[in-house]
Amino acid sequence: MAAKLLILGGTTEAYDLADRLAALPDWHVITSLAGRTADPRHAAGETRIGGFGGVAGLVRYLDEHAIRAVLDVTHPFAAQMGWNAAEACRITGIPLLRLERPAWTAEAGDRWQSVTSWTEAAAAVRQSQAQRVLLAVGRQELSHFVDIETAWFLIRLVTPPAPLPPFYAAEWLYARGPFALADERALLDTWAIDTIVCKNSGGTATAAKLLAARERGVRVIMLQRPARPAGVPTVADGEAALAWLERLALVGLNR
Ligand SMILES: NC(=O)c1ccc[n+]([C@@H]2O[C@H](COP(=O)([O-])OP(=O)(O)OC[C@H]3O[C@@H](n4cnc5c(N)ncnc54)[C@H](OP(=O)(O)O)[C@@H]3O)[C@@H](O)[C@H]2O)c1
Repeated sequence: MAAKLLILGGTTEAYDLADRLAALPDWHVITSLAGRTADPRHAAGETRIGGFGGVAGLVRYLDEHAIRAVLDVTHPFAAQMGWNAAEACRITGIPLLRLERPAWTAEAGDRWQSVTSWTEAAAAVRQSQAQRVLLAVGRQELSHFVDIETAWFLIRLVTPPAPLPPFYAAEWLYARGPFALADERALLDTWAIDTIVCKNSGGTATAAKLLAARERGVRVIMLQRPARPAGVPTVADGEAALAWLERLALVGLNR
């Protein structure tokens, strides 16, 4: 009988992994979504939606559904779920793997300032005397910057927020990545950007702005990822996750 595998999802990587695993006979894949979006895409295999109710709820779920392995593929900026998964898997003895795309790292020529909160990022905009700022953050984060009088903002979002937050001086731009290097160069030049504010998402879709910034000596205020529990084995892609599952199947799945 196929062994049950729980994917903590909500990311492209989780959907891709479910696609690949659903085709294999060894695993019955259940993808869990937090339920933040109204009509979420369902993953290949089974999908469940909604929080578990903390560590205790997750322990109960793992037991009741006879889950044999957990893959935490939540977003790098999802701050809590990974901790709950680590604790629940420690309690139950169920193997846990974290799949996370690698963070970007600064290279020679980069002018990055690392911050650990949006409050700190807003303070850094003020203190650095930035004049023309590309704000590449989510709509929920805009409130941290709306009171800054000393800078003009170019605010790039996927779709317009309603209502528009009342920035003192701002231009709104709506676009969905991936963004090409030539376009990012043109964007920084056209708008004479001197500072970018963004979070360390990693991956290639939105990395070109960092390369364009390095070429131009543009400052980058970069929100670092939240802390993760120590001791959880972590891989960077689906290939490595499949290899981990294969090894697990070889040593047996019975608890
Ligand atoms: N934060 C981001 O920037 C971001 C970006 C893209 C996608 N997402 C996705 O959106 C979801 C929620 O993000 P978040 O930042 O609120 O996460 P979070 O801070 O790590 O989690 C908060 C709570 O939401 C529930 N939860 C989170 N992920 C879940 C999942 N996959 N299945 C079931 N319950 C889940 C858990 O509730 P209980 O304690 O009740 O179990 C958890 O304690 C995550 O699945 C994440 O992958 C987040």
